[in-house]
Amino acid sequence: MSLIVFLILVAFVIALISVLYIPLPQNLADRRKLQVLEMLLRISNEYFGDLVEILFGTRVRNKLTRFLVGLPYMFQPKPPKWCTIKSEKIAGVKCRIYLPDKTRKTSDGLLVFVHGGGWCIMRPRFYDSVMYSLIARTGCTVVSIDYTLSPEVQYPYQILECQRVIETLYEEKHSEYGFNKEKIALLGDSAGGNLVAVLCQRLLKEGKQNYLKCQILIYPVIHALDFHSPSFQYYHQGYKGMAMLNPTQLARFYLLYLGIEPTLKNMRDITENAHLSPKLLESTKYKSLIDHSLLPESFFSNIEYEKTYKPSCNNELAEKFYKFATDSNFCAILGDNLKGLPPAMVLTCGIDILRDEGFLYTRRLQSFDVPTKWFHYENATHGHLNLPGSKQRKQMLDDITAFVKCHL
Ligand SMILES: *[C@@H]1O[C@H](CO)[C@@H](O)[C@H](O)[C@H]1NC(C)=O
Repeated sequence: MSLIVFLILVAFVIALISVLYIPLPQNLADRRKLQVLEMLLRISNEYFGDLVEILFGTRVRNKLTRFLVGLPYMFQPKPPKWCTIKSEKIAGVKCRIYLPDKTRKTSDGLLVFVHGGGWCIMRPRFYDSVMYSLIARTGCTVVSIDYTLSPEVQYPYQILECQRVIETLYEEKHSEYGFNKEKIALLGDSAGGNLVAVLCQRLLKEGKQNYLKCQILIYPVIHALDFHSPSFQYYHQGYKGMAMLNPTQLARFYLLYLGIEPTLKNMRDITENAHLSPKLLESTKYKSLIDHSLLPESFFSNIEYEKTYKPSCNNELAEKFYKFATDSNFCAILGDNLKGLPPAMVLTCGIDILRDEGFLYTRRLQSFDVPTKWFHYENATHGHLNLPGSKQRKQMLDDITAFVKCHL
């Protein structure tokens, strides 16, 4: 009898998994690990999350997401003996400071890290092991900014917090933390990459471009102006199951960050480009910057490319979105004069909806003669830097280290 119950249970679990299984691209690195992680995330954060969202709204759902992504980090190893971690406020902003001891501090450079998570989730301590690896390789001190998350605060709050931290580090803190103020590198991933790009442009505008020696953008968010580029088309045609970052999630983060009603309709409309007014889509600037013909041919090789796309417009949303869609403090690609920005490194992944915007920003920087290096990881996906034991992560860390050593 109990054997029958057991067999039924096994059959049920197998049936459930086969229904929920969405194959990830064959070439994806760490595919097995990610397949499991992705399914767990999809069930907990997406399916259960959707239910929570319908019942209690986006803000509660965001809290659930914060809790879920924090779970694996409750089992983090203790910091290595050679690294002291301090939590301190700099210019009134919480920061996590990593101070290597004499044996590891082989450089007087400082890395300022701005973490990702769509401006809404994640915390600096989730990146501890990434930071240890960077310190061990570069010998630098690290300050990771624990900026306030959305929706508790909204754009441009996080930008102003980060800018205050960078300015204070440069102007006041170098002797306290023991670094050379002329050797500061700024880096960030995903939404943190967006903040890095924006901060560099702001410092340039204020004549403070010398505060930073270089900028490192790790699969950054660059604009919110095209949910139909080849990387999004690849998502819809090639790997719909990507709970690491999917178009709806990205749209939700935009709404929470910008303070626009995070309704399910608004989210869906953004994923269909309905947040862009015809006036914006027809503008010369939009057409010249969000131009798919600037992308490398290889970006089109795995999709049935659909060029003509006439989105219907959600007028109310487009009206609210317009001021952000024309603001370089949000859409970094819109910056009008980038000449004189610190040398840049842009990392993009082949299996990531943000691939194309990272590439377009690389081109934009180069068009202003900003020394810019593009590193593309064709078999990696969004968030790969956080995946322990991954070769892709190691390659990224090696490349970042080489770039840092070259500029600090
Ligand atoms: C990516 O994966 C493909 C197929 O598995 C392989 O042929 C290619 O060499 C890989 N590319 C890199 C850069 O590792």
